[in-house]
Parts: sequence; structure tokens; C-alpha cells
Amino acid sequence: MERSALPPEERILLTGATGQVGCELLETLGPLGELVAPTRAEMDLTSAASVREMVRAVRPRWIVNPGAYTAVDKAESEPELAYAINAEAVRVLGEEARTIGAGVIHFSTDYVFDGSASSPYSETDATGPVSVYGASKLAGETELAASGAGAIVFRTSWVYGARGKNFLLTILRLARERETVRVVADQHGAPTWSRDLAKMTAEVMAQCEGAARGHELAAVLGDLGGVYHAAGTGETTWYGFAMEAVRLQREKEVGGRFAEIDPITTAEYPTPAKRPANSRMNCARLKERFGWEMMDWRDSLRKVLAEL
Ligand SMILES: NC(=O)c1ccc[n+]([C@@H]2O[C@H](COP(=O)([O-])OP(=O)(O)OC[C@H]3O[C@@H](n4cnc5c(N)ncnc54)[C@H](OP(=O)(O)O)[C@@H]3O)[C@@H](O)[C@H]2O)c1
Repeated sequence: MERSALPPEERILLTGATGQVGCELLETLGPLGELVAPTRAEMDLTSAASVREMVRAVRPRWIVNPGAYTAVDKAESEPELAYAINAEAVRVLGEEARTIGAGVIHFSTDYVFDGSASSPYSETDATGPVSVYGASKLAGETELAASGAGAIVFRTSWVYGARGKNFLLTILRLARERETVRVVADQHGAPTWSRDLAKMTAEVMAQCEGAARGHELAAVLGDLGGVYHAAGTGETTWYGFAMEAVRLQREKEVGGRFAEIDPITTAEYPTPAKRPANSRMNCARLKERFGWEMMDWRDSLRKVLAEL
């Protein structure tokens, strides 16, 4: 599909620019058009008034929303806050986008599924979140669809990168501090590099802009919009991810001391929020519509470790 930047004078409103995905989007979306990336103090996603005010002031052509409540375990004890940010704010962004004809890019999660399927999840598979976080993210998807805005939702999984709070950085720290680290080996999925997700997002937006020449963006998104699964290619477990990370890090730091990584079951590592056993996602739709294949998680892991 043809690619294009935004028409001149048009803006992109980016939420959550301090987050893992948001900080990468700051880099990849810059070349497409003028970016406006308010801080939490400038636009608080828990306040509908603050969100409306910002959208109305910026009048963007696109709203890109990686901003979210992502504390999966904490969400079990503060569901109101999780829903305010993950569902209510998304509803308001959708309503405002619909009013001005802006396109919305939103991010969701593998945690909308219960994880009981025996194969990778497709976009059309039945959802059934088993945590407050997953339910709040699913509610966000539903609110966005109901708003009538032209929108694309990328459901991703196990996001990590060189910056932010993520599994990779935690494991590397623990592997240096401890003799052994126990890691869950019966949850299956694929790590997704935040930068790969951000690059894919820019590519999809550029293709939508290419298709929107001479057409309304909302009409183009009526055709190309909807939910897309966008997770790293390949599959592993949290244990497999940790083992590979430590193996590669050992190669990098010859003589370095790292903990043994021991596999355990989910039952041996109780957490407030339940996690799906199967988080694997079928990303064929993304490839069919936009020709984009997400990076193999082992390749992206090597690149991320090279940056540390
Ligand atoms: N991380 C994962 O493993 C994972 C997996 C699947 C899907 N996802 C989805 O992918 C998207 C991006 O995740 P991420 O890992 O980049 O998240 P993240 O690193 O936790 O970043 C979240 C962002 O949201 C902002 N935010 C939170 N509450 C806010 C509020 N009340 N007002 C304004 N901003 C607020 C944070 O700002 P502050 O810096 O001010 O806190 C931060 O910039 C999210 O939609 C998430 O649900 C993530």
C-alpha cells in the first residue's frame, strides 16, 4: 500500500509518552507529522474534562493512545482507577475523535483472553479476561468501538525494551543479585519489543494516510480499522525468555556471574491477578492488511541487549 506523511499543519496527539511504547512512538511518529505529547500533569487520563480539553485544544488528525493503567496485580485492589484510565478515558478519546473526524490508534492486550485455547488467538476469538486489568482493557476496546471513531486497536503481549519497567530488566537485575531465580514456565506467549511495535504503528499510519489521499480518514479507517494482533513472532514461556536473556548476557559479559534460572509452575508463584496460560497471538491479519511481520522475539532480544 502507498505510504504518506500527514497533510501539512495536521497534528498527532500522543498519550503516555513517558511509557515503554510511548517513548518509542515519540521517535517513530515524529517524521509523520507534528507531535503533541502532553505529560500526565497536562492531560490526566483519570479526568474526562482534562482529556476533552486537550483534544479540543490540539484538534489532532490522529490520537495515539499507549497511555494506560498497566499495574496488573495492583489493578485487583484498585479497579476504579484501572477502569477510569483503561476504559473511561478511551471512551472520551473516541467520542472526541469521532466529533472531529480524527483517527485513533489504541493499544490493548493478550490479557483480554482467558488463555484456555490450545492455539494462538485470532482477533475473532471469544474474549474472557481473568483479571481486572484484562477486563478494564477489554472495556476500553468496547468503548472505543461504541464511540464510532475510526480506530485501530493493536493487541500486543509481554512488552519489553531497553527502557521502562519490564520483565527483561527485572530478570537481568535479579540474575546479578541472586544465586537462583525462579521463573514461571507454564505461561506461553511472545515477548514484543516496544520499538518494533512503535515502528509498526508508524508504518500502519503512513499506509492509512496513503489510502486517505482524496478521501476522509474516517472512511479509510472504516475499511482498514478494527482489532489487530501485534505480538513478537515465535513463542516461548517466561522461563524460556529469562533463560535466553541470561544466556545472551553471559556471552556478552564473559566472566560475569549470573544466577541459575529455575522453572516453576504458576501455582508455585501466586499473584493477586490471574494470568492466561496461553497468550500466543495469531498476527496474520496485520500481515495480510499492512504487510507487516513483527520481529522474532529472539532477534529483538539480541538488539535490545546490545543497547544495554
Ligand atoms: N507492558 C506490557 O507488557 C503490555 C502487554 C500488553 C499490552 N500492553 C499495552 O500496551 C500499551 C503500552 O504499554 P506500556 O508498557 O508502554 O505502558 P507503561 O510503560 O506502563 O506506560 C504507561 C503510560 O501511561 C501513562 N499514564 C498512566 N496513568 C496516567 C494518567 N492518569 N494520566 C496520564 N498518563 C497516564 C504513564 O505516565 P506516567 O509516566 O506519568 O506514569 C505512562 O506514560 C498499554 O495500552 C498497555 O495496556 C502492555
